[in-house]
Amino acid sequence: MKDLPKLELHLHLEGAAPPAFICGLAAEKHVDISGVFDEGGHYSYTDFWHFLKVYEAATSVLQTPEDYRRLTLAVLEESAAHGVIYTESFISPDFCGGRDLAAWRDYLAAIEDAAAEAQAKMGITLRAIVTPIRHFGPEKAREVAICAAETAGRFVTGFGIAGDEKVLDPKDYLWSFDCAREAGLGITAHAGEWRGPEHIRATLAALNPSRIGHGVRAIEDLALVDELAERGTVLEVCPGSNIALGLYPDWRKHPIGQLFDRGVKVTVSTDDPPFFHTTMSREWDRLADALDWDQGVFETLNRTALDAAFCDPETKDKIAKKLEPRA
Ligand code: ADE
Ligand code: ZN
Repeated sequence: MKDLPKLELHLHLEGAAPPAFICGLAAEKHVDISGVFDEGGHYSYTDFWHFLKVYEAATSVLQTPEDYRRLTLAVLEESAAHGVIYTESFISPDFCGGRDLAAWRDYLAAIEDAAAEAQAKMGITLRAIVTPIRHFGPEKAREVAICAAETAGRFVTGFGIAGDEKVLDPKDYLWSFDCAREAGLGITAHAGEWRGPEHIRATLAALNPSRIGHGVRAIEDLALVDELAERGTVLEVCPGSNIALGLYPDWRKHPIGQLFDRGVKVTVSTDDPPFFHTTMSREWDRLADALDWDQGVFETLNRTALDAAFCDPETKDKIAKKLEPRA
């Protein structure tokens, strides 16, 4: 699986930081990150809400555009090593410059610089989805949306929302999503991970996203599953993340197979790979084992991801060529 080309639509940039990278930066900057790692050097958390806190603590070592340039390179190196040729990553002005537009532009330039280097050296393409953090509240999300709208273009192609799903409601973020949509950005939103089908319905009704981050708890309401299939809403499913966070007990009990069989457009991503001890090749390996998926299914996942990607048509054409079987 490792060598097969893969597309990934759901990856949090800070959440993909290799532990050694965060430790190294913490030492350089003399930042206290006690509690972030266990004795084995792995990210350490007890549940999703603790995970969010540990995520923010690890992110506190990332303080300058240069830190993000190095982070982006480290993350893309890891993705490329697992066959990823196209990835969309969540990037947040909350962490990159405190929502100040001029600072955000500097962070973005550094991230784009790393992306260009990775493209040239490793053949991996990165696009950015600007993402407010839900539990930071709607006011901050507006500032994030303005940063997104002002920098929308070839690199910044999408807008989403991450963080604590149980906080507030999708309609509270309507202004931000309208602002992003008017700027031409593709729309996705985390939903159906920590709240059930009703929250997916509310997200569809309020924000009309073409994609949903996770969305797996739609399986608790088959009418909603059929509606997702009919609408063609694409789910960015992250099975390893769901299992690591205790949403499902194991790979066989994960609903991605049922969603796929019922006609929902599913894709597969890692979310925050080192936090969940996963990689894109591990996700594919585990799914092949647990669900008996053959190469044809994985090719379907790639095609679904390419159709749903937020990048421009020329970039899609280039990626499509890389997916063609070689003679
Ligand atoms: N931020 C990073 N990972 C996340 C997840 N799985 N759900 C919501 N917010 C996140
Ligand atoms: Zn996520």
